[in-house]
Amino acid sequence: MPLSHGRKLIAFPGPTNLPDEVLQAMHAQSIDIYGDEAAALTDGLLTDLRKVFRTEAARTFIYIANGHGGWEAALANTLSRGDRVLVLDSGSFAKGWGEMAQTLGVDVDILPGRPGRAVDANAVEARLRDDLTSHGDEQRYKAVLTVQIDTASSTVNDLAAIRAAISAAGHPALYGVDGVASIGCMPFEMDAWGVDLALTGSQKGLMTPPGLAFLAVGPRAWAMRGGADLHSRYWGWDERLGEIHYMKYCGTPPMQLLYALRRALDLLLREEGLEAAWARHKLLANATRAAVQHWSAGGAMTFYAPEPAERCDTVTTLVAAEGLDSGALRRFCLENCGVAIGVPTGDLTPPDRGFRIAHMGHWNAPMALGALGAVELAMTALGWPGAHGGVSAAAALLGESLRV
Ligand SMILES: Cc1ncc(COP(=O)(O)O)c(C=O)c1O
Repeated sequence: MPLSHGRKLIAFPGPTNLPDEVLQAMHAQSIDIYGDEAAALTDGLLTDLRKVFRTEAARTFIYIANGHGGWEAALANTLSRGDRVLVLDSGSFAKGWGEMAQTLGVDVDILPGRPGRAVDANAVEARLRDDLTSHGDEQRYKAVLTVQIDTASSTVNDLAAIRAAISAAGHPALYGVDGVASIGCMPFEMDAWGVDLALTGSQKGLMTPPGLAFLAVGPRAWAMRGGADLHSRYWGWDERLGEIHYMKYCGTPPMQLLYALRRALDLLLREEGLEAAWARHKLLANATRAAVQHWSAGGAMTFYAPEPAERCDTVTTLVAAEGLDSGALRRFCLENCGVAIGVPTGDLTPPDRGFRIAHMGHWNAPMALGALGAVELAMTALGWPGAHGGVSAAAALLGESLRV
């Protein structure tokens, strides 16, 4: 007997659950896209995005695009065919950014990662030192590209340590960061960490439907745009600078998505506060990890990321024990409980044993406990070992953390 009728829950790493207020904000007519009201809306969003990226120095841009579009926008404005870049692997998504660069004609080197582990800043420094001594100006890396959180492996990279490694090597490469699975959910300090170019999308931590990509362009990235022969009219930054509001989007602005974003940024920056949202994510991630730790001790699954300090606060990648079928677990959760659990992505985990529990964006204690409860229910129904007690461990952690 399915127990799925009622409100559905997305414990899938994006697109994430949308606040009702954000959905309702989209129920409004378009306005004159050349008028002052529309221009003020965009100006306000671009200003607030600088707060989200924690930058005063960068210019922000809004694209009608997903994260892949954000990647292409970043590359198109800064690089030329034949340039070399270094991609820091920590799972799957930085390599995806690198593949896109390669398709555009950039030479891509990958600093190999270790399964489930974050980027090793020492290895970055060593590779960059080597690059400085073994290549001439033209051949040197023009950019170092990484993600803050790899949504496939659920590891988090130490962006300040990577910046320190680039600086310690004395390397001039642009530092580009994908914050698609992290920005809005955990500390990201563009200026303080010396990130030159950062990007994210609307559909995860920013609680807005998919369809918008955001770039924050620091002074060093900005200075590269003149020489970038990957430049195109759609992605070009200069094209989006003028007074004409229509051209800020290189065409018709996506008005209803902008209304949604306006409401979501008010929720994040004004009603909750960015730092409170980071703290909420940390606590709810800890609750998820407490449940998983319990299930893991019972022999049902393991964390994909072996180092506790490198496990991120937005999604947890898991590997079911041999002989257990994670697809059956996900199907059970969806069909019987109305909870969507994440599929494994990339080739990191065995396809029939990997799964991901997301805990990002519009996510609170009952949602977290509900999703974990559905997993525990499914484990019990499917006869997985050691199910009982995971949800209690999560609730106990939250209760202890909030003890009055
Ligand atoms: C870290 C990261 N970067 C980039 C992307 C690509 O974004 P999109 O699917 O919106 O193109 C994703 C998607 O999940 C992601 O998690």
